[in-house]
Amino acid sequence: MMRVGKIITANIHPRAFVRLSVSTKSPPSNLRYYSPFSHHKFSSSQSGKMPTPVEAKIAPSMLSSDFANLASEAERMVSFGADWLHMDIMIDVDMQDGHFVPNLTIGAPVIESLRKHTKAYLDCHLMVTNPIDYVDQLGKAGASGFTFHVEVSKDNWHELVKRIKSKGMRPGVALKPGTPVEEVFPLVEGENPVEMVLVMTVEPGFGGQKFMPDTMKKVRTLREKYPTLDIEVDGGLGPSTIDIAAAAGANCIVAGSSVFGAPEPAQVISLLRTSVNKAQKTC
Ligand code: DX5
Ligand code: ZN
Repeated sequence: MMRVGKIITANIHPRAFVRLSVSTKSPPSNLRYYSPFSHHKFSSSQSGKMPTPVEAKIAPSMLSSDFANLASEAERMVSFGADWLHMDIMIDVDMQDGHFVPNLTIGAPVIESLRKHTKAYLDCHLMVTNPIDYVDQLGKAGASGFTFHVEVSKDNWHELVKRIKSKGMRPGVALKPGTPVEEVFPLVEGENPVEMVLVMTVEPGFGGQKFMPDTMKKVRTLREKYPTLDIEVDGGLGPSTIDIAAAAGANCIVAGSSVFGAPEPAQVISLLRTSVNKAQKTC
C-alpha cells in the first residue's frame, strides 16, 4: 500500500532544501512499504513549519537468532516490541568484483519462507557485490526494506533505487565505517532518493563486534543535514552504546547480540527505544 502526500518544498534547515510529504496519518510500522517520501514527513499539526522528530525503529538483527527456528524467533521479537526485523543478506562468493564480506548467511528463499509466518517489516541489509541481482527475487519474496551498500553501487544506484521502489520495497543505502559520508549525499538529495541511510558502526560481516564510536561523526553530519531522514546504525548497539548513537541522531537501531543474548530481550528493546525518544525530544 502506498500513500502519497502532497509534495511541497520548504527550507527547513539552513543548508538543505528538502522535499516534504504531508500525509494525514502516521503509517503503521509493519507495513511493507509506506511512503515514497517517508523521511520528509511533517508533524500531524501540518503547520508546514516544524518537522516531527523521527520515529524510533528498533530492529533486532536476526543474524543473532536461532536460524533453525526463524519463524518463532521473529514472532518472539515482535511480541517483545520490535518494530522491524533486520535481515542480513551476505554472500561470500566471488561474483565479479570480489567478496563483500567473509561470511554467508541467508537469501531470498529464507525471506520468502519467513514472510509466510510474519507480517513484520523485513529490513533487508544486502552485503553483496551486485545488489541489483537480488532486487526482483527479494521483492517477490516479500522483503520490506532493501538497503544496498554505496561502495558497490556508485555506477548504478539510480537504476537500483528505481527498481527497488518498483518492486514495492523501501530503498536504503549503507556505508562501511571507512566510507566518507559525502558519498551518500547524492543518493539522499537526488530526484529519486533513498529513504534511509544505514551507518555501519562495525565492519560488516559478523554480529557481536565492538561498536566504533568514530562512526558517530557521520551520524551527526547526516542528522544536521537531513532532520527527518531515517538514520540506521548497525553493529555493537546495546545498552552501553545506545545513548551515544541516539544523541548523534540515529533513530533506527539494529541490535543483534545485545537483544538475543539478554535474559529479558523486551527490556533491552524498550531501553533502546527510550534512549532514541529522549534524544529526539531534546534535539
Ligand atoms: C553485521 C551485521 C549486523 C549484525 C549486528 O555485518 O550487519 O546487522 O548482525 O549484530 P550486533 O548487534 O551483534 O553487532
Ligand atoms: Zn546488518
